[in-house]
Amino acid sequence: MNPKQEVVNHILAHRTESPMTEADAFAPANIALCKYWGKRDTELNLPVTSSLSLSLGSLGSQCHLSFCEERHQVVLNDEPLDPNSPFVVRLSQYLDLFRRDTDRYYRVETLNTIPTAAGFASSASGFASTVLALDKLHGWCLSEIELSILARLGSGSACRSLWQGFVEWHAGETETGMDCFAQPITTAWPELRIGLLVLEAGKKPIGSREAMQRTVETSPLYASWPHKVAADIQIIRKAIEENNFEALGAAAESNALTMHATMMGATPAVVYWLPESVETMHRVWKLRREGLPLYFTMDAGPNVKLLFLDKDRQHVEEHFPDLLVAQ
Ligand code: PMV
Repeated sequence: MNPKQEVVNHILAHRTESPMTEADAFAPANIALCKYWGKRDTELNLPVTSSLSLSLGSLGSQCHLSFCEERHQVVLNDEPLDPNSPFVVRLSQYLDLFRRDTDRYYRVETLNTIPTAAGFASSASGFASTVLALDKLHGWCLSEIELSILARLGSGSACRSLWQGFVEWHAGETETGMDCFAQPITTAWPELRIGLLVLEAGKKPIGSREAMQRTVETSPLYASWPHKVAADIQIIRKAIEENNFEALGAAAESNALTMHATMMGATPAVVYWLPESVETMHRVWKLRREGLPLYFTMDAGPNVKLLFLDKDRQHVEEHFPDLLVAQ
């Protein structure tokens, strides 16, 4: 049996079904402050290191789930998707893991409140909202840990998208990954803001899965990554506890830059940065030198996310009028 199916069967083994005809669920997108970059198990999406993220409030995915016949149906932002597109094939394989009744398929209707076309990762909120809706549709009443493990099987970072606020994903040690799930960090920090800058809306030259794997396999710089994460995650946890913005921003920015450095060392090199990305970094550094507490982070793409405090929001928006601030 495939290892994902074993995990799903294990989690659902003693669950009774009390299915509904339809179910709705929302999950926020999340941005890592200390990144997940590299898997120790590519099938189960088990990471080499732990990671820590901040969720994006109302920016995420709203999933409406129901049963249908013959084949899975996927509708994204009111448009039915081609059943043979790579995304629908991947989602269908994931949905197959949960089918108990072989005659019934799922119809997934997802509305993304995060701009998908603008290149922001919506797979995390997409898979997380689907898992929440599956749990409601079948009436399984799974625990948060179980839901996080199931979301991880869809997309690694999806396991962090079940909560708002700060979330830590524990790398775990076991082969089955039953100790590899995310949990919320309860410390509140209402003044902290994250904003998204769309610099390039086109398709990325290489997806995060492939880029991650290539980095692990070929980059001589990858060996230093686990040490970097071990140091940064401690600094970030402490910064959250103390609401210390400079410490948080500096560690998050350095973590993102180091992740990109590991990619650049891969063969062939993975370089997501565009001239606009680098220009934005220099603008952030200049504003910081002039006294504005502003930091950035970046994921597997050319777009930049800004970290700042609510008191500086207006000032930041004056410099970046197109900024989409998460609420
Ligand atoms: O979960 P995936 O396969 O989309 O990978 C996400 C990787 C990064 O966004 C670059 C980092 C992270 O921790 O979210």
